[in-house]
Amino acid sequence: MTDLVEIVAGRRSWSKVTSDAPTHAELLPLVQAAGRVADHSSLRPWRLIELRGDARLELARALGKAEGSSKPSSKPLKAPLILAIVANVKKSKVQPWEQEATASGVAHMMSLLLHDAGWGVFWRTSHYTRAKSVRKMHKLEKNEELLGWLYVGGLPANARPGRRKLIDPEQFLQPLHPHALAGVTASSDADSEDEFHPVPVAPAGEKSKKTKKDKKSKKDKKSKEATSSKNSNEAVAL
Ligand SMILES: Cc1cc2nc3c(=O)[nH]c(=O)nc-3n(C[C@H](O)[C@H](O)[C@H](O)COP(=O)(O)O)c2cc1C
Repeated sequence: MTDLVEIVAGRRSWSKVTSDAPTHAELLPLVQAAGRVADHSSLRPWRLIELRGDARLELARALGKAEGSSKPSSKPLKAPLILAIVANVKKSKVQPWEQEATASGVAHMMSLLLHDAGWGVFWRTSHYTRAKSVRKMHKLEKNEELLGWLYVGGLPANARPGRRKLIDPEQFLQPLHPHALAGVTASSDADSEDEFHPVPVAPAGEKSKKTKKDKKSKKDKKSKEATSSKNSNEAVAL
């Protein structure tokens, strides 16, 4: 197993973190690496917003307002650094869901990279992630949506790396058995009946003359094909 497989399998979220946080300069190479996610048409349909100090209080107030409470939400004070994940959906032939998948990929990458750099990370959302007050506070453009926040901080001194239980991969990786397509797929066997035989084309201007015999044989072939197709449908229905 490569180191990368070990690192990814060992990732975990940390709900409690200390007041230490990576600096803006420390974040830059991680953001650059995360920007290598698969991205249809290289649209870069994402951005991150860094919230520290009082900026977190603004988020706390916006969430409190969205919840209909006069008090700010206590959530944003759980970590010294919050990275808002923004999907910035471009006008393109690439569907919005594909662009959101890229933005989501960046968040997962950042979460892994921060974990690898020794920081504690927790991806949080709220019922009010897409509330008006929350949008306004982040100064989102019309084409933008929040995908939640990565809460980032230092690992507590007594933190044990405690690995999460790994999934059973057999349950999540299943081959598609092609039995339902029997007879439809083309064979690569050179002797196969499916082999391509070009139909001779009459020279331009020369009308092909069909004899009575030709027409009859075509009719017989059609009726044979209809019977065989009916039978094969019955076989599939069984
Ligand atoms: C988009 C997204 C939003 C999430 N929002 C929350 C949340 O608001 N509250 C929460 O307890 N967990 C949330 N989670 C799950 C946690 O980030 C975390 O994955 C979960 O607690 C499991 O811990 P683990 O990552 O160590 O397995 C969210 C995950 C994702 C991907």
